[in-house]
Amino acid sequence: MFSHKLLNNLDSSRYVAVLTGAGVSAESGVPTFRGENGLWKKYRAEDLATPEAFSRNPKLVWEWYNYRRSIVKQKSPNPGHYALAAMERHFSEFELITQNVDGFHRAAGNKKVYEIHGNIMRNRCVKCNRLSEEPPFETKDDLPFCSCGGLLRPDVVWFGEALPEKLLKLSYTAAQNCDVFFSVGTSAVVQPAASFPLIAKENGAFTIEVNPERTPISSIVDEVILGKSGEILLSLCSRLKINMTDMSK
Ligand code: OAD
Repeated sequence: MFSHKLLNNLDSSRYVAVLTGAGVSAESGVPTFRGENGLWKKYRAEDLATPEAFSRNPKLVWEWYNYRRSIVKQKSPNPGHYALAAMERHFSEFELITQNVDGFHRAAGNKKVYEIHGNIMRNRCVKCNRLSEEPPFETKDDLPFCSCGGLLRPDVVWFGEALPEKLLKLSYTAAQNCDVFFSVGTSAVVQPAASFPLIAKENGAFTIEVNPERTPISSIVDEVILGKSGEILLSLCSRLKINMTDMSK
C-alpha cells in the first residue's frame, strides 16, 4: 500500500503538514458535504451557509447549525484523527490545517491545528464579536443573543466570507516550508484550501493524497493512496512505528 519512496520521504522528513476535509470525520459518522450522502445533496448552501441567508432567515440557519451540532455532540474522533495526533507527537514539526468545524482534531490530541473554516461549537456576536462556546445566552424568539444585545451566529466561515487572516497565513507558510504535505479526506474543490497541496508541491514538498476517490489534485500530487483515512493513517503509523498509545485519550 505504501511505496518505498513515500516511506523514505517520511522517514527522513522533519516537517510535516496536513490538510484535512470532511472525509476524515466520515468514519466518525459526521456527514460530508459532497458525494452520495453529502449535505449539499439535501440542502442548498445558499439557504444555509451564507451571510445573506443568515440576514434573511437567522432562525432557519440556526436550526441547521443546531442540527449539525447535535450530530457532532453524539460522535467522537476515529482512528484517523488519533493517527494524526500520534504523527504530531512523532515529527519534529507538524501542522494540521483543517476545513472541518467539528473540533475532532483537538479532541484527538492535535495541538497545532488551524481551523480555517471555524468551529461549529463556538458562537460569535455579530455586534461585538465576542466568542462564546455554548449556552448560557439570552434567547428571544428562539434566537440566541449576546449580553451586549447583539445576535449570536455560529463561528464558522460561510460562503462569500473571508477566512481568518492569521490562520490563512500560517497555512500558507506551512505549505511552503514543509517536507511532506498530506491532503486527507477533502474533495479539493473549495479554495483556498485546495491550493495548499499545490503550493507545497511547487515548493518541493513530497505530496500525498488520502481519499477513497480521486480528486482534481490526484494527478498533481506525488502519491495517491485510495482508501479510508482511518484505515490508511492507522496502518501508515504502524509501518512507520509511530507510537499510538495515546489513542484512547
Ligand atoms: P467534501 O464533502 O467536499 O469532500 C469529502 C471528501 O472526503 C470526498 O472527496 C470523499 O471522497 C472523501 N471521503 C469520504 N469518506 C472518506 C473516508 N472515510 N476517508 C477519507 N476520505 C473520505 O468535504 P471538504 O473537502 O471538506 O465549507 O469540503 C470543503 C468545504 O466545502 C467544507 O469545509 C465546507 C464545504 O462546503 C464550508 O461550509 C465553507
